[in-house]
Amino acid sequence: MTKTYKEKCTLMFLVAAVGSLFMFLTAAYWLDLSMLSGQSIIQFQTTKKVPYFPLDCLSWNETLTCPKNYPTTHKNIGHSAFKTCPDYFRWIHEDLARWRETGVTRDMVDGAKPSAHFRLIILDGKAYVEKFRKSIQTRDLFTLWGFQQLLRRYPGRIPDLELMFDCNDRPVIKKNRFRGPDPRPPPLFKYCSDHGSLDIVSPDWSFWGWPETNQKPWEITLKELKEGNKRVKWMDRLPYAYWKGNPDVSPIRVDLKKCNVNYTSNVDWNTRLFFQNWTNESTNGFKGSNMKDQCTYRYKIYVEGWAWSVSEKYILACDSPTLYITPHYYTFFARGLTPLKHFWPIRDNDKCRSLKFAVEWGNNHTSKAQEMGEASSRFIQEDVKMEYVYDYMLHLLTEYAKLLKFKPTVPPNAVELCSESLACPADEKFRSFMMESLVQQPTDTLPCTMPSPYDPSTLKDIVDNKTRAIKQVEMWENEFWKNQNLK
Ligand SMILES: *[C@@H]1O[C@H](CO)[C@@H](O)[C@H](O)[C@H]1NC(C)=O
Ligand SMILES: *[C@@H]1O[C@H](CO)[C@@H](O)[C@H](O)[C@H]1NC(C)=O
Ligand SMILES: *[C@@H]1O[C@H](CO)[C@@H](O)[C@H](O)[C@H]1NC(C)=O
Ligand SMILES: *[C@@H]1O[C@H](CO)[C@@H](O)[C@H](O)[C@H]1NC(C)=O
Ligand SMILES: *[C@@H]1O[C@H](CO)[C@@H](O)[C@H](O)[C@H]1NC(C)=O
Ligand SMILES: *[C@@H]1O[C@H](CO)[C@@H](O)[C@H](O)[C@H]1NC(C)=O
Repeated sequence: MTKTYKEKCTLMFLVAAVGSLFMFLTAAYWLDLSMLSGQSIIQFQTTKKVPYFPLDCLSWNETLTCPKNYPTTHKNIGHSAFKTCPDYFRWIHEDLARWRETGVTRDMVDGAKPSAHFRLIILDGKAYVEKFRKSIQTRDLFTLWGFQQLLRRYPGRIPDLELMFDCNDRPVIKKNRFRGPDPRPPPLFKYCSDHGSLDIVSPDWSFWGWPETNQKPWEITLKELKEGNKRVKWMDRLPYAYWKGNPDVSPIRVDLKKCNVNYTSNVDWNTRLFFQNWTNESTNGFKGSNMKDQCTYRYKIYVEGWAWSVSEKYILACDSPTLYITPHYYTFFARGLTPLKHFWPIRDNDKCRSLKFAVEWGNNHTSKAQEMGEASSRFIQEDVKMEYVYDYMLHLLTEYAKLLKFKPTVPPNAVELCSESLACPADEKFRSFMMESLVQQPTDTLPCTMPSPYDPSTLKDIVDNKTRAIKQVEMWENEFWKNQNLK
């Protein structure tokens, strides 16, 4: 009896000791955490698993050679579960469909050279670039930086390939030039495409920052937008449609000017448009262009520029319904958007009346409008977060590489790419943007799993459903304006 009693006592003592030790550790853990800044918390939790690889500009400046210590394989140390990528990834299959039967030959790749700014080569997990011409601003630099960060995130996971990249705005590989029995269209990677073109869409440079306009890297901007949204509740936002930008880049924007309040006469189309002069703005560092300060109106207008507009993702993340003027171009994620769920469609040929109706409808149906604003923010925050931007690139390149009919090689005039070769010699301002979007270590989680292609009938359903929703809004508009004219 006594023995058991003694045993029980010892056990209880042990339990208590272990318990208090545990409590002490927990307390220490939290104390530690609370003393660390946001960045260090991540460090605290992961240093034991994957080491950091900061840039080594000192050694680059001396030797002009890329470091050799970066890991060459990627492991699922975080034991992440398989998760399927967002649905818009399925369009990767559609973008590459033209080459499914024939594959991609070296001739086809070289055929894209006349409009390409550079050829990217990936061989044994390393990247090389052959430059053909300079892009405007730092588009080419930040695009290459993006590919380089992808390699750092997923070392050893990107297959050997060669691809041509064009940093200009508009798609150039027109479908109708490649009909007939042996069309051999060149695969060309770009930031946007349209329904008459075969250009393959890839994320634009601004995901890693756009220093010329002071747009921070996407990961930082996303957080700022989330914080910014809390500042003014939707109901307290100004009940008008807001747009700010440079109007003189395309006819559709010039035309949008006419919809501004009091532009022609004292008509209020329920819009508040602010025209920026980029010459002026660039002299003051685009200080008035911070996206997180632009979520103070109940509605935001999206209008294309010379092609797609980089502003698309910022506008959709405002918690205010996006009044999306019928676009001509699409970006890699835009095909995941559904009219009336994620945005309100606006006619491109009767913009002012269409905008006025949309705002009035939203102000009459405030909970539906709020829901729409939140749905697009959620889409951007969750489905277009930086992890998925990288996963999209990973899957796009993987699917593309499967089509290659030749063994990629490094041309004699190509140079090896590494983060050091891009950042160390760069202008100080550009380098600071790169530091903020540097992938510091391989991820310890798996990429999302690529969904299967759409079957043709589902694809048709999706397109039909979108068309139907847009027609529905147009009918409501027609009805509304017919009644207005009767008064
Ligand atoms: C490397 O060289 C660049 C100029 O080429 C300079 O701006 C940078 O500060 C140097 N970095 C280091 C760490 O020495
Ligand atoms: C539009 O013009 C009217 C009449 O002059 C004026 O009362 C109103 O404040 C103007 N609206 C704006 C937003 O400037
Ligand atoms: C550009 O700057 C000039 C001179 O500072 C000023 O008069 C003009 O209004 C500005 N234009 C815009 C669109 O801001
Ligand atoms: C923009 O501002 C610059 C300098 O202030 C001026 O020369 C130019 O004419 C302006 N452009 C427009 C379209 O107002
Ligand atoms: C909004 O509500 C007002 C008042 O009920 C109505 O007169 C107007 O037609 C409505 N407008 C729209 C676009 O729903
Ligand atoms: C199209 O819309 C119908 C009716 O709203 C819906 O049942 C169907 O699931 C939609 N199809 C797709 C592919 O979204």
